[in-house]
Amino acid sequence: MEIRQQLAALTRYRHIISGAPVAIAVFCDRTVMYNDVKDHQAMGACLQNMLLAAHGLGLGAVWLGEILKSAAEVGRLLGVSSAMELMAVLAIGYPADTGQRSIRKDAEELVLAEF
Ligand SMILES: Cc1cc2nc3c(=O)[nH]c(=O)nc-3n(C[C@H](O)[C@H](O)[C@H](O)COP(=O)(O)O)c2cc1C
Repeated sequence: MEIRQQLAALTRYRHIISGAPVAIAVFCDRTVMYNDVKDHQAMGACLQNMLLAAHGLGLGAVWLGEILKSAAEVGRLLGVSSAMELMAVLAIGYPADTGQRSIRKDAEELVLAEF
């Protein structure tokens, strides 16, 4: 079976990986980390930048985090060192505009207090 299909089988969102022409697994190299919070925040920013770059190119991309439950299997499948910590898989393709829109909270709902 193609590696991308084997990757897809490691998440309940397999249809997203199977249906996209590209999947990018993003890892954090634990051997060059010195602060988990800082480095994981940096990886979140990296992933968000990748999503924005994809959007800027007219592509559609989805951040897949649920696959982290299978992080060890993903690392073995892709043959990366165990020092590489899986952060997410991004599925990238051409967006199919289904007209679906996100439901967003108003900013006031997210502010705990104002001084
Ligand atoms: C940390 C994180 C993990 C996510 N994991 C998944 C996932 O496993 N499967 C999935 O379909 N979408 C996943 N998403 C994408 C969200 O479901 C959603 O599409 C994205 O946050 C944009 O939603 P919005 O347009 O409603 O804001 C994840 C998003 C984030 C930020």
